[in-house]
Amino acid sequence: MIVTPLAFLIYASASALAQSQIVYDPAHNSTPITGLWSSGSGNVTTGSTYVNPSNESFTYPTNTGISFSFDETRMWYEVLRYRINGNGSYPNCPTTVLNWAHGLLTFEPNGSLVLSPVGDGYQRIEDPCAARSDFTETYNDTELYIQWQIITDPVLGPELDLYQFDGTPVAPLRLLSTTPNMLPTQVLRNPPTPSTTVLKRSTTNFAPPIHWWNVAATTTIGAMLASAFLV
Ligand SMILES: *[C@@H]1O[C@H](CO)[C@@H](O)[C@H](O)[C@H]1NC(C)=O
Ligand SMILES: *[C@@H]1O[C@H](CO)[C@@H](O)[C@H](O)[C@H]1NC(C)=O
Ligand SMILES: *[C@@H]1O[C@H](CO)[C@@H](O)[C@H](O)[C@H]1NC(C)=O
Ligand SMILES: *[C@@H]1O[C@H](CO)[C@@H](O)[C@H](O)[C@H]1NC(C)=O
Ligand SMILES: *[C@@H]1O[C@H](CO)[C@@H](O)[C@H](O)[C@H]1NC(C)=O
Repeated sequence: MIVTPLAFLIYASASALAQSQIVYDPAHNSTPITGLWSSGSGNVTTGSTYVNPSNESFTYPTNTGISFSFDETRMWYEVLRYRINGNGSYPNCPTTVLNWAHGLLTFEPNGSLVLSPVGDGYQRIEDPCAARSDFTETYNDTELYIQWQIITDPVLGPELDLYQFDGTPVAPLRLLSTTPNMLPTQVLRNPPTPSTTVLKRSTTNFAPPIHWWNVAATTTIGAMLASAFLV
C-alpha cells in the first residue's frame, strides 16, 4: 500500500482553490468536525430526508453526492452516498448506488479516523442491464480515513477533506450546519442480517448478489468514493 504524504494531499486538495486565501487547520480543532457536511451542490444530506431504515428504503436526492454527519459528543457518525456511474460502452446502462450507514466514530492516535457501523446500514444497487437489476443489501463495512483536514475558505467556509485508506481524497465536503443531522443513534433495523443477504429484489431472479461497495472497500473504493462523487 502506498500512503501519499499528507503534505502532498493537502496541496492536491487545495490547488483548485486560491492558495493565499486558505486557512489551514492542522490541529483539526479550530473548526469542529461536528456538524452536517455535504459535497457538491449539497443536495445529499444525512438524516431522515432520504432514508427509512425501518423498511430499507431510500428517497432519491436531486443530485448525486455524499454527506456525513459527525457528533463528537456522542462519538457517532452517519453517511449517505448517492452515485451514478456512467457506462461508456453502454450509455443506457448507468449503475446507481445509494448507500447509508451509521455507527461509532473513532479518532486514532496516528491521526486516522475510523467509522465502525453498527450493522443496520444498507445499500440499493440498480444496474438496468444486469441480470440482478435492482436489489438492496446490508452494508456494514468499517471505513478507514488515514487523514482528515478542515480548511477554511473565506467565501465557501469550512471544507472537510477526508483521505481514504489509499490516500485518495473524498470529494470536498462543505459544512451545511454545525448541528449534525442524524437518525437516532442506535440500531434501527432489527435483526441485522449478514451482509451477504439480499434484503429486497425488484425482479424475480435467484442469482447471488454482487457486492459492489463491499468489493470496492478493498479494491477501488478510491474511484467509487472520490472521483465519482465529484460529478
Ligand atoms: C439541489 O441542487 C440544485 C443545484 O444543483 C439547487 O438549485 C437546489 O436548491 C438544491 N436543492 C437542495 C434541497 O439543496
Ligand atoms: C417505507 O416506509 C415509508 C414510511 O412508512 C413509506 O412512506 C415508504 O413508501 C416505504 N417505502 C417502501 C419502499 O416500502
Ligand atoms: C492508523 O491507525 C489505524 C487504526 O489503528 C490503522 O488501521 C491504520 O493502519 C493506521 N494508519 C497508519 C498510516 O499507520
Ligand atoms: C457490523 O460491523 C461492526 C464493526 O465492524 C461489527 O462490530 C458488527 O458485528 C457488524 N454487524 C453485523 C450485523 O455484521
Ligand atoms: C457496461 O455495461 C455492460 C453491459 O451490462 C457490462 O458488461 C460492463 O461491465 C459495464 N462496464 C462498466 C465499466 O460498468
